[in-house]
Amino acid sequence: MRLGVLSSGIDIILEMVNPSLYTIIPMHERPDLLKETSSLINSQWPASERRRIQTLKASCDNFPINLILLKDDRVIGHCKISKIPAMEDSCYMETFVIDREHRSQGLGSKLLQAAGDLMSKKGIKNSFLSTKGQEKFYSKNGYRVCEATEILATWRRGLPELPFIKSNSSCKFFSPPPPPMPRHRFVTPQTVVLYPGRTHMLKHL
Ligand SMILES: CC(C)(COP(=O)(O)OP(=O)(O)OC[C@H]1O[C@@H](n2cnc3c(N)ncnc32)[C@H](O)[C@@H]1OP(=O)(O)O)[C@@H](O)C(=O)NCCC(=O)NCCS
Repeated sequence: MRLGVLSSGIDIILEMVNPSLYTIIPMHERPDLLKETSSLINSQWPASERRRIQTLKASCDNFPINLILLKDDRVIGHCKISKIPAMEDSCYMETFVIDREHRSQGLGSKLLQAAGDLMSKKGIKNSFLSTKGQEKFYSKNGYRVCEATEILATWRRGLPELPFIKSNSSCKFFSPPPPPMPRHRFVTPQTVVLYPGRTHMLKHL
């Protein structure tokens, strides 16, 4: 059974209910599916199509990597994997979604497994994410709840001088958002992964 060939040349082989129907590939291998992928994501989290497509277009071999799950060439799943700034061995995952009609068939688990395999093969050791309501799904797939401070500690090993993090209090993390940083990628993990009210989760790959 073969689930697509990633740009890096890695074959993802997974057991699936009807494997010949499904393929997992990076978004940048199928730019013709940008609009369809945007629609899938927007069916869960409505936002401007232009903005979605812009974000999806950033997918590349060296992160961020957007993975799409295809069934008969139709996009039914998506997730985005980004590097945590300055941490060579850590990524965070976001915008993980399976089309409503295809949920509870094990496909989300397969996409998560493929994302983990890809990260591992690229030398990533820690996969972080944050969720509100899908803790059970991620737990079943090997993630465990972690404290924001644990993620913070990971970042600070690589980014000791992040200006918006006060060294004496992790609570400052949940203060009103800081002004935009000159390098946009520094802001993203804080606002996405450590969003207040969400459960932070970690898997050692
Ligand atoms: C979270 C999400 C991605 C899970 O995708 P999924 O394809 O439904 O996931 P799975 O099928 O692998 O697992 C979900 C459930 O189906 C069950 N399941 C797995 N294989 C199954 C199968 N062959 N037949 C029936 N059920 C199955 C799992 O046991 C699990 O059950 P549980 O919820 O009781 O633990 C999907 O529900 C989704 O897109 N939700 C909306 C977006 C969202 O919240 N994303 C997460 C953002 S952090």
